[in-house]
Amino acid sequence: MSARRDWIAAPGGALHGALAVPGDKSVSHRAVMLGAIAEGTTRVDGFLEGEDTRATAAVFARLGVRIEAPQAGVRIVHGVGLHGLQPADAPLDCGNAGTAMRLLAGLLAGQRFDSVLVGDASLSRRPMRRVIEPLQQMGARIAAEDGHAPLRIRGSQALRGIDYRLPVASAQVKSALLLAGLYADGQTRVREPHPTRDYTERMLAAFGAACAYVPGEAAVQGGHALSARAVAVPADFSSAAFFLVAASLVPGSDLVLRRVGVNPRRTGLLQVLRLMGADIAEHPAGSEGGEPVAELHVRHAPLRGIEVPVACVPDMIDEFPVLFAAAACAEGVTRVRGAAELRVKESDRIAAMAAGLRALGIRVEETADGADIHGGPLQGGEVDSHGDHRIAMAFAVAAQLARGPVRIADVANVATSFPGFEALARAAGMGLAAA
Ligand code: S3P
Repeated sequence: MSARRDWIAAPGGALHGALAVPGDKSVSHRAVMLGAIAEGTTRVDGFLEGEDTRATAAVFARLGVRIEAPQAGVRIVHGVGLHGLQPADAPLDCGNAGTAMRLLAGLLAGQRFDSVLVGDASLSRRPMRRVIEPLQQMGARIAAEDGHAPLRIRGSQALRGIDYRLPVASAQVKSALLLAGLYADGQTRVREPHPTRDYTERMLAAFGAACAYVPGEAAVQGGHALSARAVAVPADFSSAAFFLVAASLVPGSDLVLRRVGVNPRRTGLLQVLRLMGADIAEHPAGSEGGEPVAELHVRHAPLRGIEVPVACVPDMIDEFPVLFAAAACAEGVTRVRGAAELRVKESDRIAAMAAGLRALGIRVEETADGADIHGGPLQGGEVDSHGDHRIAMAFAVAAQLARGPVRIADVANVATSFPGFEALARAAGMGLAAA
């Protein structure tokens, strides 16, 4: 992990220009994973050079996969086939990346060799039972003290397909089961309480796996080889989100975000911001690696508080920190419910945002699964990101409307998902500097 860093954020002025944010984190992880177990060579363009996705690439290098990086944002993955991974001689480090750990748990459960997955302090606090229990039903042997990393995975050749109904909507758990399903006898079927991002299903099908899916349900047939194919990674909507909110909030802003991935399972924030009064135009710009992309044109507009439709929650699960920032600067009260999952992300995002906003003079009432955020003038002050990348960036956005400078503590982990955020934010017009 990088050294501890703080930011000072303060109003910079209107946001202008046309920005390209880095590649999608979820797609980058999956492109390396499927490329590694495919037959042939997978070229990944637009790969996110973040710590999370690099951790995934490093894990596969340790498992004997040759991965070249001829230039930033490109990976050439020399696939070893479904059964070509080699045992690593030490624990595999997933860093801060929940996606890496949960998906790898599924993939490694089907190997003939043992593996140990470890992560940083935040990842070691996150719940892993949600993935361990269904994998055990498939015959996997995984030990984890108290349901937390390290995960000790025993090699198994005897996975069997299951029909599993997810108790919580989680693309990571669904994906782990589908990846284990590649190694299982028969069919593995996953049913979700609400459809979540479908990148694993889409990419499995594109790589030639026997994978069928409709929103809310996916099934894979074990034992079919994958064949390599090029993957073009769209820009990450979750990274674009910080700029969508900042430009909505700061008077005079007029900003374009280029070729952003707009898979409907990711863009719940667009709908919610529009309900709040945001002016965001979406110009379809074709597709990137099978994913729809669009130019997003955002102009300043005053926002008002709303009750966030619970049905939108899974489609904007990573965007709540920045939604809280928008709500703090909106007129009236914004009510969030049905979002208990936020408590088990890289930090407890309800508590972290509530504490930080209160420190800046905003009234926030927390509930178990959400909060009421009372928009109002923001004061300067000090907030703690709790080492959570999205909390750090959300406060950088909120600070653009503060009446004094905001010191944001512990921001090094922004590099897990959005390297270059600081420079890009400044280029767009935001006031942000290293403390
Ligand atoms: C992700 C799924 C989501 C999301 C995370 C990335 C993925 O997590 O929050 O940032 O790539 O599958 P959950 O599956 O825990 O909801």
